[in-house]
Amino acid sequence: MHLTVKLVFCVALCYGQTLLQNPLDNNTGLHNELSERIGNFSIEVLFHTAKTLGNGQNFIMSPITVWSVMAVIAEGASGNTRLEINNALRLSTRVKDSTRLGFRNITQWLQVNTNTVKLAKINAIFVDRERLPLPDFTGIAKEYYQTEMITLDFKDSVNAARLLNSAVSNFTRGKIPNLVDASYFQDTRMVLTSALYFKGQWTVPFNSTFTTRMPFFNSNGDKIGEVNMMSNRNNYPFANIGQLQARVIELPYGNENRLSMLIMLPNRGVSLEDMFANFKNVNLDILFEELRVAKEQYSEDQVDCFIPRFKIESDLELTDVLRNQFGIYDLFDPSRAQLPHMARTPMFVSKIIHKAEIEVTEEGTEAAGVTVAEFSNRIGVVQFQANRPFSYVIVEKVTNSIVFGGFYRQPSVY
Ligand SMILES: *[C@@H]1O[C@H](CO)[C@@H](O)[C@H](O)[C@H]1NC(C)=O
Ligand SMILES: *[C@@H]1O[C@H](CO)[C@@H](O)[C@H](O)[C@H]1NC(C)=O
Ligand SMILES: *[C@@H]1O[C@H](CO)[C@@H](O)[C@H](O)[C@H]1NC(C)=O
Ligand SMILES: *[C@@H]1O[C@H](CO)[C@@H](O)[C@H](O)[C@H]1NC(C)=O
Ligand SMILES: *[C@@H]1O[C@H](CO)[C@@H](O)[C@H](O)[C@H]1NC(C)=O
Repeated sequence: MHLTVKLVFCVALCYGQTLLQNPLDNNTGLHNELSERIGNFSIEVLFHTAKTLGNGQNFIMSPITVWSVMAVIAEGASGNTRLEINNALRLSTRVKDSTRLGFRNITQWLQVNTNTVKLAKINAIFVDRERLPLPDFTGIAKEYYQTEMITLDFKDSVNAARLLNSAVSNFTRGKIPNLVDASYFQDTRMVLTSALYFKGQWTVPFNSTFTTRMPFFNSNGDKIGEVNMMSNRNNYPFANIGQLQARVIELPYGNENRLSMLIMLPNRGVSLEDMFANFKNVNLDILFEELRVAKEQYSEDQVDCFIPRFKIESDLELTDVLRNQFGIYDLFDPSRAQLPHMARTPMFVSKIIHKAEIEVTEEGTEAAGVTVAEFSNRIGVVQFQANRPFSYVIVEKVTNSIVFGGFYRQPSVY
């Protein structure tokens, strides 16, 4: 059973005009506090993206890469532009230094390379050879956000697109081969990309023998399609989280206890959106604590876990969400954007693109051998059936970072 996620996050920066300087509040703050702020942003960006997409669409995104690209932009911004971004990133009361050091620290935990789990992150800024960013900005981007600067000749847009695409393609192992085309460079002076690559093997793999075609329902219980449902019986951490109005199961990857998928299945009659709104009162720390307590209490209990095999590709435009839901206006406005620390020439951000892909398949691809499940329901075996809309997040547990998250609500036989 493999899970592969590829993500490319992309921001197009354009020329605009600029002025003023930067206000930044002081606050010491701990590493944990920063991850909590990123967590708050992550949950909200998932929630608002889901709402913007409307009912029924599946999606996958990497909230932490969105956060990190915006944080790099904030380093180049001043005045109200900076204020708006910092508010959106939940950084309105922090010092610059602790954010930088804290994030660098978190980033270190986002590199995992073992036989069973690979997580890798790359940030890059592609700039026009003729309009190099200011060296200070380049230095900060590199030192604290591990963001590389790559110069291209934007006038030769065909070649620029080819080079950018091949770098991104290389990183995502060929999964995202064509991020941009030549036309993309016409109004663009700088492109920020942030890609996160994840491939993980379940700690307890699913056995494809038990994968079977099963119906999938909407939140009201009406059948809306079918899925290839994988199943496994194990003593997975599992809990009813009252405050969330949902049941949550943890499916770990690898053997390091570093990365896990949490699947959140709203109680019957509760919509995904309503469940997600409950995150106001519950954070990931609470979730993991409840899972831990439940596991201690019911350590012997087995859970029959049913989740669909799935593949989701998302190509998201985040500009509207960031503007309307997070209050980032000036950055996208050619007449108001202030990015003086980034480059001498006035600039603004024209759009923000986010691409991600997730694939949940079985090891060995015996997928063709789809047969009937024969799970007899033993007394004492809890059933976790993700056969109606659910949300999933992939969490790095040292930092409690949501590296990927999304909604599954439109069934398809994969
Ligand atoms: C900012 O915080 C640091 C660490 O607590 C403190 O030493 C410094 O005096 C503070 N600066 C201001 C301007 O409050
Ligand atoms: C870095 O992360 C580790 C692990 O969470 C934490 O113990 C440490 O205090 C962090 N250091 C800083 C400077 O944030
Ligand atoms: C592709 O990635 C590999 C490994 O990360 C690297 O050694 C190689 O130089 C890259 N190739 C290109 C064309 O970027
Ligand atoms: C899957 O289950 C079948 C039937 O119980 C069993 O014969 C087979 O060995 C299992 N495969 C793996 C990889 O565990
Ligand atoms: C995020 O923080 C804001 C401000 O503190 C709060 O109103 C909101 O409920 C938080 N959202 C989540 C999902 O925790």
